[in-house]
Amino acid sequence: MNIKIRQATKKDITFLWDMLYEAIYVGEGEVRPPRSILDKPELAHSVENWGRHGDHALIAIDSDDNKVGAIWIRLFSEQNKTYGYVNENIPILSMAILPKYRGKGIGTRLIQEICTLAKINGYKAVSLSVDPANPALRLYERFNFKKIGVDGTSWDMKANL
Ligand SMILES: CC(C)(COP(=O)(O)OP(=O)(O)OC[C@H]1O[C@@H](n2cnc3c(N)ncnc32)[C@H](O)[C@@H]1OP(=O)(O)O)[C@@H](O)C(=O)NCCC(=O)NCCS
Repeated sequence: MNIKIRQATKKDITFLWDMLYEAIYVGEGEVRPPRSILDKPELAHSVENWGRHGDHALIAIDSDDNKVGAIWIRLFSEQNKTYGYVNENIPILSMAILPKYRGKGIGTRLIQEICTLAKINGYKAVSLSVDPANPALRLYERFNFKKIGVDGTSWDMKANL
């Protein structure tokens, strides 16, 4: 599969919202929540007002230029945080790939590239939140994300860069 990765532009914001919805973990036998769940402030903070200083997103596209996945990092503050928050200097990573493109190595490439980008931008670490039942946990562990806390049913994880 010929997948390319490019930096996101403002035109990709709707796709970031779509990917934020795709990133919500739905356990075995559970019903996917309605899209209105993105109105919850803790989730909405991940994408709203995209384009702030420190926002970086990458889009994976197929050979027909269709968007198939995205990864992004963003800084937050105590007052304006989302899941996985550590402090205002550590960006939080979010990612998702469209269902039929999962498990083909695209997410691995996206994490590699966003970690490089984060390092170039002077960040010392990246954090995230994941449900430990989500198979994505294995991917994060391969990139040296370590559990640093528990928030409800999810783990907060951090990787030093
Ligand atoms: C997690 C995700 C972004 C990884 O991207 P990907 O292109 O599928 O990943 P790769 O093919 O590069 O790597 C494979 C790893 O991805 C994860 N993965 C693969 N399919 C997955 C799926 N359907 N759901 C969740 N994680 C999956 C596993 O960790 C897998 O590792 P394994 O082979 O040891 O099981 C993608 O699978 C996805 O969008 N999943 C659903 C949304 C999600 O869980 N986002 C993260 C929220 S914290």
